[in-house]
Amino acid sequence: MNRLQLAVFGANVSHGCTISCSNGGIEVNWAESVRLARHADRLGVEAFLPVCRWQGFGGLSDFNARTFETWTWAAGLAQATQQIRIFATTSVASVHPVLAAKQAVTIDHISNGRFGLNVVAGWNAPEVEMFGSPQLPHEERYAYTDEWMQFIKRLWRESHPFDFDGRYFKAQRCRAEPKPLQIPYPLVMSAGVSTAGRRFAARHADINFILAPSLEHARATVADVKSMARRDYGRNVAVWGNAAIFCRNTSGEARDWYHHVIHDLGDLEAAANLLDIFARESGSQIDDPALRERYLRNMMAGYSGFPVVGSPDEVVDFLAEMVACGMSGVTLSWPDYDAGLAQLGQELLPRLEARGLRTPRSPHSDP
Ligand SMILES: Cc1cc2nc3c(=O)[nH]c(=O)nc-3n(C[C@H](O)[C@H](O)[C@H](O)COP(=O)(O)O)c2cc1C
Repeated sequence: MNRLQLAVFGANVSHGCTISCSNGGIEVNWAESVRLARHADRLGVEAFLPVCRWQGFGGLSDFNARTFETWTWAAGLAQATQQIRIFATTSVASVHPVLAAKQAVTIDHISNGRFGLNVVAGWNAPEVEMFGSPQLPHEERYAYTDEWMQFIKRLWRESHPFDFDGRYFKAQRCRAEPKPLQIPYPLVMSAGVSTAGRRFAARHADINFILAPSLEHARATVADVKSMARRDYGRNVAVWGNAAIFCRNTSGEARDWYHHVIHDLGDLEAAANLLDIFARESGSQIDDPALRERYLRNMMAGYSGFPVVGSPDEVVDFLAEMVACGMSGVTLSWPDYDAGLAQLGQELLPRLEARGLRTPRSPHSDP
């Protein structure tokens, strides 16, 4: 297994993860999804990870207004690819556990054991309300998510019919066949960073997908979730971070490119809409104007992933620092995914291999 695993993040939503009116963003059509997934697959990228999104954030770009539903998208891409792990990202309020368990197993079979389930508790009240359910308070949302996951795991593992008698779900004579190909069940990722989010990951997930305002924060989060998993549940959990790549031949060119995409063409209105919903739902008040400005820029660069702006060597240095903080995977986004994947193959992977972060690819991989 590579010391640094990679995923392509957000190729199912319009503009991907970059809140900008720049050219080359994700358009959301099937030919594009297949092309990008196959390209990542040929490069040996480990995972293809969608964003779960039910409505956009307005602004000039109408950011993320067009989206592919992630389970059906994953099923199609599972058939279109060979090696790469295909994830569905699902907000728990949008799908009943009995259906989710069955969909996961079906895609696990289509992909011959390459399916991954990324669970999100759901922070976006306007989206939750589209399903007719009220947004639960933050801590209770995770109690619901915990029960949702327990129910699914029983459906994946148990052969005899069982009744489920939970606080949120009550169901009789539950049974699901066939079982997943991955034993005991498909790889589970969970995206969330609060204490409750970490506890969910520590208890249920193979990978905790996190955001952090700095590498120091990331290092502390990684240490916390890993020790919680070991101490409280006797488990190991990997941690993956998120990076928005702005890479050019030189650092100066990369900074100019970042400035153009984010400062000249960035969609502040959409980013502010997103940040405001997020702040309201997470109960965090961002009053300091300088802090708000930084949050907005990072939001615009790549859904609050680390903006990684630099030459290929500098980008690889930063990714190596993420690994040094204890992260074993990084999800990538770019303002232009086709160009980003080409650059990954030509410039970044050879350097990551030379640094011992990834094993060299076979000769028939992309040049
Ligand atoms: C890295 C990362 C990726 C996320 N991706 C999504 C997503 O695709 N769709 C979504 O609705 N929420 C997404 N979320 C939101 C989380 O599911 C969660 O609701 C939010 O982070 C609040 O939980 P927390 O306080 O535990 O972080 C993501 C969160 C993180 C940290």
